[in-house]
Amino acid sequence: MASDPAVRVSVPTVWSEVCGAMLLHLLGPFQQIDEDARPQDDAHLHGDARPQEEARTHMVFYPFRHGAGFVPDEEILAALPEDVALRASVGIERVLVPGGWEEGWKEHFRPITVGRICVRPPWEEPPTGDLLDIVLTPGLAFGTGLHATTRGVLELLQREAPGGPVLDVGTGTGILAIAAGRLGFFPVRALDNDPQAAEVARENTLENGVEAQVKVLDVSQVPAEWVEGATILANLMLEPVLALIDRLAALDVDFRRLIVSGILMGEQEAIVEEAASRAELAVTERVHEAEWAGLVVVPAGR
Ligand SMILES: C[S@@+](CC[C@H](N)C(=O)[O-])C[C@H]1O[C@@H](n2cnc3c(N)ncnc32)[C@H](O)[C@@H]1O
Repeated sequence: MASDPAVRVSVPTVWSEVCGAMLLHLLGPFQQIDEDARPQDDAHLHGDARPQEEARTHMVFYPFRHGAGFVPDEEILAALPEDVALRASVGIERVLVPGGWEEGWKEHFRPITVGRICVRPPWEEPPTGDLLDIVLTPGLAFGTGLHATTRGVLELLQREAPGGPVLDVGTGTGILAIAAGRLGFFPVRALDNDPQAAEVARENTLENGVEAQVKVLDVSQVPAEWVEGATILANLMLEPVLALIDRLAALDVDFRRLIVSGILMGEQEAIVEEAASRAELAVTERVHEAEWAGLVVVPAGR
């Protein structure tokens, strides 16, 4: 079977999202393989001097396939953040991958449809009929593989007539902001406290033809003018969700509804519900998928 030259870039997992986003521009889309932290004994057996707690991520790029051609190691290093510890631990290897293997991983990224929204990788054909087309390149920040929590927001978002302003808190790849824009919400605003995620969201909204304002902000800094009358999407973990509810209570600005996701069914769901009730908000709808809960929260008394 024919072989294709690929480049494997290995980094500590904590750096993988940032490095992946930076290298995507240089080397094209990639396959990501996460390697768990190794126990000390195992590391010792393999003569591995790396600290025992370090989980690593391997990103396999196919630069020839994506028109980048041969990219020297120095150029790959130069594209990475200037963190001394990161640079000391980056591994770059040229690997020969059996022909067809790099196409094989694309099998995992099939178009996914939730209601009218169809999310597809660039190599798949656009959907036909009434479906709204969103194109995202897998291999970047959270939000490309369509996690159950993302699907939950997309489902709840489409249960009411679209329209009016939308705010995507913790936008990641921008997928929810793009979907809202496609559905007819306007203006579209999004924020993320991770500058790389915000940059990726900016690019993705632009590439999908959705006009959006994207800012690097923490959930505790949500601007009042972005909240007013808005449908707020928040696929976050428990702590930032609670911080968002606090922020909404402090701002005391009327919004249309808040769709919360990324929290676990049961205990976390109850914690969010209590926090909402203290903030004079009420849960009106919910979806459950696997262990995850998605909630629609509105100002109480509506
Ligand atoms: C679970 S991902 C969701 C991404 C995308 N919205 C989706 O639904 O697929 C959560 C995102 O929230 C961001 N985030 C986490 N804590 C945050 C905070 N305190 N303020 C702003 N953004 C935050 C993360 O950087 C990440 O991009």
